[in-house]
Amino acid sequence: MPSRHAKADLPLDQVRRFLEPGPVILLTSYWKGERDVMTLGWHTVMEFTPALVGCVIARGNHSRALVEGSGECAINLPTRGMADAVASIGNCSGTEVDKFAAFALETEPGEQVGAPLLRRCHAQFECRVHDRRLVDEYDFFVLEVVRARAATTPRNPRTLHYQGEGRFMVAGDSIGRRRLFTAGKL
Ligand SMILES: Cc1cc2nc3c(=O)[nH]c(=O)nc-3n(C[C@H](O)[C@H](O)[C@H](O)COP(=O)(O)O)c2cc1C
Repeated sequence: MPSRHAKADLPLDQVRRFLEPGPVILLTSYWKGERDVMTLGWHTVMEFTPALVGCVIARGNHSRALVEGSGECAINLPTRGMADAVASIGNCSGTEVDKFAAFALETEPGEQVGAPLLRRCHAQFECRVHDRRLVDEYDFFVLEVVRARAATTPRNPRTLHYQGEGRFMVAGDSIGRRRLFTAGKL
């Protein structure tokens, strides 16, 4: 029986399926022998092809130094069962805690980037920094997804959506309105 974490390659123009709804992600990074992971809620799809994603990675976060240094990172998509880890990872620094050990995060190597991929996550997107023109002023990194993997089931993962005040909304229903969309604007 395939493992419940079994994943398949995902065409890069489909990355938006997972990120457009705005889930909290776990951003992993690696540089010069050091790895880190942070929780990140402020991101946006910017383009399908190339698959561009903008992320606010505030200065002061240790992950920021690793992303700046390496020019790479990975976006991992956690689901409801990882809520404790998601909250905790976003409330401590990799300078003080080995978060991979502390939160028992199983990793696997990426193909295109040095950042570790989180096995339990529903999807894993390997990214390179595409444009850093807005970094100094807004902490905004434009990333290009260069490899994407996603679990084949469930089709609609129970992703976490941060509402502030320590609360997360969990993704639920998915409804279709395809008939109302103009061709080419799906
Ligand atoms: C739900 C949640 C969402 C967060 N979103 C962001 C974000 O979008 N950008 C950011 O810079 N930090 C965000 N953080 C804060 C970082 O995850 C946090 O500062 C973390 O400790 C950084 O870890 P590091 O120093 O090991 O990189 C968020 C934290 C939580 C709990």
